[in-house]
Parts: sequence; C-alpha cells; structure tokens
Amino acid sequence: MISNRLQHTKPSATLAINAKAIEMKKRGIDVIKFGTGEPDFDTPDNIKAMVVKAVEEGFTKYTATDGISELKEAICNKLLRDNAIATKPENVIVSNGGKQALYNCFMALLNPGDEVILPSPYWVSYADMVELAEGVVKTVDTTGNRFKLTAEMVRNAIGPKTKALVLNSPGNPTGAVIDRKEIEAIAQLALKHDFFVVSDEVYECFNYTGEPSFSIASIPTMKDRVFTVNAVSKTYAMTGWRIGYLAGPADFVKGMATLQGHMTSNPCSIAQKAALEALNGPQDSVKAMATEYRKRRDFVFETMNRIPGFKLEMPEGVFYAFPDVSACYQGSILDSVSFSQFLLEKARVAVIPGIAFGQEGDRFIRLSYASSMKDLEEGLERIRKAVGE
Ligand SMILES: Cc1ncc(COP(=O)(O)O)c(C=O)c1O
Repeated sequence: MISNRLQHTKPSATLAINAKAIEMKKRGIDVIKFGTGEPDFDTPDNIKAMVVKAVEEGFTKYTATDGISELKEAICNKLLRDNAIATKPENVIVSNGGKQALYNCFMALLNPGDEVILPSPYWVSYADMVELAEGVVKTVDTTGNRFKLTAEMVRNAIGPKTKALVLNSPGNPTGAVIDRKEIEAIAQLALKHDFFVVSDEVYECFNYTGEPSFSIASIPTMKDRVFTVNAVSKTYAMTGWRIGYLAGPADFVKGMATLQGHMTSNPCSIAQKAALEALNGPQDSVKAMATEYRKRRDFVFETMNRIPGFKLEMPEGVFYAFPDVSACYQGSILDSVSFSQFLLEKARVAVIPGIAFGQEGDRFIRLSYASSMKDLEEGLERIRKAVGE
C-alpha cells in the first residue's frame, strides 16, 4: 500500500484537465485549451543562443547543488534592481522551477502541526506541499474582497501555531494584486506575531495596475523572515527549462541545499546558463509579452462579461481569468467540476474547475488567456453558445 503521506496528495488538477484535453485532441476532437498556465510565446532568441553556446562548450556536467555562482550573483543583482531586495549569494538557492523552490521552503520551515495561512483561492500546489511537509493549511477566504488579501484578514487567521503566511501577488488563479499598504501592514503583523512570509513572485512582471509589484522582503525589518520565490518560467516563457530560485535567511537556505542535494542535485546545467542570460540580457521581450497579455486581458474581460451567467472581476495581473460562473449551475451541473466537464464536452473548451484552487474556488473556473487572440475569440464564442442553449 502506498505511504500514508501520499494517500492524501492529489495529482495537480491543472495537469489532469490538460491530459484529458490532449487525449481528446489525439482522437481528432478540436479542443481549445485554456487549461494550463504557460505562456504561448517562445523563449526569446538571445536565451536560446546562450544555450547552444553552453552545449558547444561542454557545460554538461554536475554543477554546485544550489546553482552556479554567476547565476546566484545575477539573481542578487536582479533582486536589488527590480525588487529593492539587498541579498547575498549565500541567501540564494537555484532549483528546478519555482515549484521545487517552494517545496524546499516548506520542508525547511515546517514542523508537524505548524500552521500556514493561505489566502484562498490559491495556486493548486501550495496546500499539498504544506501537507507533505506535515504542516496544516489555514485558508483565508478572499472572494468577498475581489480576491484582494488584507492585513485584517491575516490578523483574524493568526493563532498560536501560525508559522508562515503565503503571499502570491499578482496571484494565480485570481489575478489579484495585494495593495502595497496591506503588504506593509502584514509585515507589521509578521513582526508582532513572529511568523515567516513565503512570497511567491513568479508573476511579478505581469501586473497591469500601473504600479510596480511590491516585494515584502524589501522592507528592511523583514529581512530575516521572508522567503522570496521567483522563476524564469513565466517571465521569460521558459516553463520547460525548469529554473526557479529562492532568497531567504541563510541557515534555512543551507538546509534547502542539503535537501535538494539528496532529491535532484543541481538544476540542469544548461538551463542555468539560459537563466543567466534571461536575467542579465535585454528585458524588452518581457515588456512585449506583458503588453500583449494586457491587451488580451481587456478583450477577455469585455467578452466574458457578456456571456450569460459569467461575472468576471477585472484581473489586475497574471494571464488568468477567474469568473464566477455559479449562476450557470443548474440541473446536473452543480459545481465547478461538472461545469468544466460540460464545457469540455459541449463547447470543446478546456478550463480548470475553481475547486482545484480550494473550497472557496468552487463558484469559479479558471481560463488562461496566454493563448492566441484567434483561440480566445473562438473559445469564448463556443462557451457563449454552449451556455446559451
Ligand atoms: C503561483 C505559482 N507559483 C509557482 C509556480 C511554479 O512555477 P515553475 O514552473 O517555475 O515551477 C507556478 C506555476 O504554475 C505558479 O502558478
């Protein structure tokens, strides 16, 4: 029998729906996929060129477990340049995607029974990762405030076992951006009640509020209690390359390197060179992608709110729309799973049921607009027809 630990761990729902859509496509069914969260752009050419060079130069052996020193330096420079976070290479670890960085973090931070405050709806993997690390998830419902976490919500969730809070702004799946003044007030709470903050900033560049994303680790008093997680995956359209990183207190980072050393050793040597070019090279492709996502966001907002039963708050960031579709629940369609199945079968459009992002998400579905305008136009029209019949 499989271990107790894994019996309660669910497969990632976002990957599951994608698998079903792929299987339908293989059978010749024309499915439009709004499921997975990955950019539809190609990795920029300057990054690809660096990889060819790395291969030709034979950079194909094990590296330091926690990443090559040039990349750790580049990460420190990036954090200072873009996020006003002053840190050193010994505070940084490079991992196999943001995912491994987060998993390392919860494993290094949590003892059995420690509580982690998780604003909900939340990205699928946080809850399972916390539970694998034997922590306890305490969700905070943000649905009543356009998904925007406030310090007041956090204050109400703090208890004697609170060990950490997860921030994800701009956030997956909701697109919400937490107000800077709330982040500052949350920092005060972390100091007063002595908890850590895991700040997942993988979508920092896709923020359409007009204000740059604000990093809680830039508050000097928070230096020893924030783990900033980021990745090249979304920012540079490099999801397959698997490079993420974390900056945080050095003693924890050392523990994470030990864990990573037993799990995977270093992240791919060549991909590390690619990440180095991504961080140090020209950044114009990032701006171009953000401009394009914003255009699509505006289109999706307009079009989706004209679909009967759909209610979409304006997403402030990221490349997801998270509409409330509960007005469409009737007859055999009772929840986000049956509604998503209905859309896949009737409209041939793959979306993610909101329940995948926590109980509070069940009135919603998630659609990624990191898809071509043609697919967005066609997919939303198919949905409109399916729910209108
Ligand atoms: C909020 C959030 N954090 C982290 C990740 C992990 O990213 P990576 O592909 O770098 O592992 C994702 C990926 O979907 C995400 O949405």
